[in-house]
Amino acid sequence: MTTILRHPKEVREFSAALKRQGKTLALVPTMGFLHDGHVSLMREAKKRADSVATTIFVNPTQFGPNEDLSVYPRDFEGDVKKCESAGVDVVYAPAPDDVYGHGFQTYVKVEQVSQGLCGDKRPGHFRGVATIVTKLFALFRTDIALFGEKDFQQLQVIKRLNLDLDLGVDVIGMPTIREADGLAMSSRNKYLSPEERIKALTIFRAMNEAKHSVANGQLRANILIPQAVATLEQAGFKVDYVEIRDSTELQALTVVVPNVTARIFVAAYMGKTRLIDNLEISAG
Ligand code: PAF
Repeated sequence: MTTILRHPKEVREFSAALKRQGKTLALVPTMGFLHDGHVSLMREAKKRADSVATTIFVNPTQFGPNEDLSVYPRDFEGDVKKCESAGVDVVYAPAPDDVYGHGFQTYVKVEQVSQGLCGDKRPGHFRGVATIVTKLFALFRTDIALFGEKDFQQLQVIKRLNLDLDLGVDVIGMPTIREADGLAMSSRNKYLSPEERIKALTIFRAMNEAKHSVANGQLRANILIPQAVATLEQAGFKVDYVEIRDSTELQALTVVVPNVTARIFVAAYMGKTRLIDNLEISAG
């Protein structure tokens, strides 16, 4: 049976009761409209802690003024059923005013790792993510938190703030869950028309082409990136960025050197829908 909590005070009581019982907690923060990627995080959380909490909160501070906050897909009842079947103990679904109360003025900004990629394309996005995640970590006093690697830069931002602010949470990144044809699962896939949905899997194809090129000895970013851009544009994508960066500091790489874990990062618009994805393409 999943309990729904609406107010921070209820979460504090839930967390304090767990601590009194000596039980561990794993947190899966989400913005709802849950898919199998989220469910796999919940199932993994279940294996790693005595109790699992999921948050469902479309966080307004991580959306830019021209982004999709007002139309972001929602299905609270469906989400709760999915949480229940994944064995989640608690769903926290607060109202925005209970998260950002009157006079709210404290934000968390992670410097370097928030720069570039989505940080440049979506100004303020990672400040919003870092702020809500810090608040959730503080509120739940969680032992573990799980996030998907699809939002790879977000994961690095969260790992960094957890370290820098001594929050002591075991932050776990889990591999991206994909549809059978390779499209990364995302709540935003719902925006795609059937025709766009077919074209959308070109992101996975373009990233895999880069991976195969690296395996065949082509290590130069100035060759690999234009190849991926061309593949995406041919399929009708408007490319926001394609970049190759290392997997920890997210520094841009001009060459995919052995012993450095390299990833290709893609953000591109299919029609009005902005999709992101990434794939490890390390050499050797
Ligand atoms: O990845 C998401 O769904 C969100 O960015 C997160 C981590 C739940 C913060 O709102």
